[in-house]
Amino acid sequence: MKITVVGAGAVGATCADNIARKELASELVLLDIKEGLAEGKAQDMMQTATLLGFDTKITGSTNDYAKTAGSSVVVITSGIPRKPGMTREELIGTNAGIVKTVSENILKHSPDAIIIVISNPMDTMTYLALQATGLPKNRIIGMGGTLDSSRFKYQLSQHLECSPSDLNAVVIGGHGDTTMIPLIRHATWNSAPVTDFISAEKQDAIVKATMVGGATLTALIGTSAWYAPGAAGAALVEAIVRDEKKLFTCCVALDGEYGQKDICLGVPVTIGKDGWEKILDFKLNDTEQAAFNKSADAVRAMNDVLKTL
Ligand code: LAC
Repeated sequence: MKITVVGAGAVGATCADNIARKELASELVLLDIKEGLAEGKAQDMMQTATLLGFDTKITGSTNDYAKTAGSSVVVITSGIPRKPGMTREELIGTNAGIVKTVSENILKHSPDAIIIVISNPMDTMTYLALQATGLPKNRIIGMGGTLDSSRFKYQLSQHLECSPSDLNAVVIGGHGDTTMIPLIRHATWNSAPVTDFISAEKQDAIVKATMVGGATLTALIGTSAWYAPGAAGAALVEAIVRDEKKLFTCCVALDGEYGQKDICLGVPVTIGKDGWEKILDFKLNDTEQAAFNKSADAVRAMNDVLKTL
């Protein structure tokens, strides 16, 4: 099993580090356009192998896609991250060209790969990767909702003073500060609705904090976050490699599900060896469906920008 991570920045390197620690592949390639960066980080990670006890062979490559040939899963993290005050959407001008080139290069050398997109604006970059590669829709997965759902569980756990692992909670819609939809009505603490334990006012605050979770970190750190985005990417790789059929929210091509088509947007899906395998129909109420439609409108407007680039 061979896995490639494109982009050796903080998110890509963290994702690769997690993949190696979990021993998801015998071979892991880290690729970056910046001379020496991927080779350096790959070597640094390899020097943790005896300390952490993993057997994955990690190699770096400066933009040589031949080294990625035959990968089963490829994670795309390429592009610039946002700076404090920026939205993810503002990155489109720079990142669209990068993600298109990367997708085409991956396809040339790994025609059977499942592609996970992390680059921002993630919903539009997923749509772009689908168009640029022409791959079957199940093999293109945008990571955003996986990260946002994890951040949602963190926010809930802080308030409930409970283990985030005891929570089931998903964020659907776009991966943007105003487009994501934390479905608090559907969230449970083991099987009990979390709304039984949280005041309406506090529920509102938790939802809002989740939506700006990435921006909050960007303001604190000075650039966008990497531990949770990298771990979210690796969790999806794990579900594919181990054929887990685990439920995640991912950005996938919709064809009428949730009332939308010709768009990639976050919905609950199972992830296994074929990529995203099944979309789950969470019964949305009118307010939630309206929020989903609004989110789709915003993402569609961003997708339209692709035509102007
Ligand atoms: C974030 C970036 C990775 O939300 O989109 O941190």
